[in-house]
Amino acid sequence: MGLHLGDTAPDFTAMTTDGEISFHEWKQDSWAVFFSHPADFTPVCTTELGRTAALKDEFAKRDTKAMALSIDPIEDHHKWAPDIGEVTGTELNFPIVADPDHRIAELYDMIHPGEGDTSTVRSVFIVDPANKLRLMLTYPKSVGRNFDEIVRVIDALQATDAHPIATPADWKPGQRVIVGLAVSTEDAKKQFDNVEEFKPYLRYADAPR
Ligand code: BEZ
Repeated sequence: MGLHLGDTAPDFTAMTTDGEISFHEWKQDSWAVFFSHPADFTPVCTTELGRTAALKDEFAKRDTKAMALSIDPIEDHHKWAPDIGEVTGTELNFPIVADPDHRIAELYDMIHPGEGDTSTVRSVFIVDPANKLRLMLTYPKSVGRNFDEIVRVIDALQATDAHPIATPADWKPGQRVIVGLAVSTEDAKKQFDNVEEFKPYLRYADAPR
């Protein structure tokens, strides 16, 4: 059966560029971005892993850890890792899982046979502190991901977990938010600043601080 939002992110133990890691134990009660890429020594993947490394401080501000995976063996990961720093300017600073027997890729449904071969597509899982899957994205092999979007979703998830709000299309941190449907407009005016009712079901408010 496939994975769904709200499911517990499957746990696994695997060899990574940082040694053997058990996913839940490594993650502890942080957020995590767990993502697959098709192969080592490939151009798009090199840019993506460099970009993730460059986001280290942004992820840390959000109590978020990054972990990548491909089906290449650990020896290849170790040989490729220096290229990431050389090409993108930021050394690898998070673990890459080696999954040569496809065990974890299959657990997370990261291999899509229609996409050419048995390498993993570009899957992204955002996992919350309770190990629940909160976002799943799937990109084709030829298209590099937008990591600003991944950070934006973490911000939105953390804001909507903390307050009875939702975020509108293209929302960015600091912009106005949508009052949750379970909150009456009268109650919203007590909880939020500058509540504006466009429709009984669509109320905007300033982002809570
Ligand atoms: C890449 O990372 O450049 C790539 C990998 C597999 C297929 C297409 C592109």
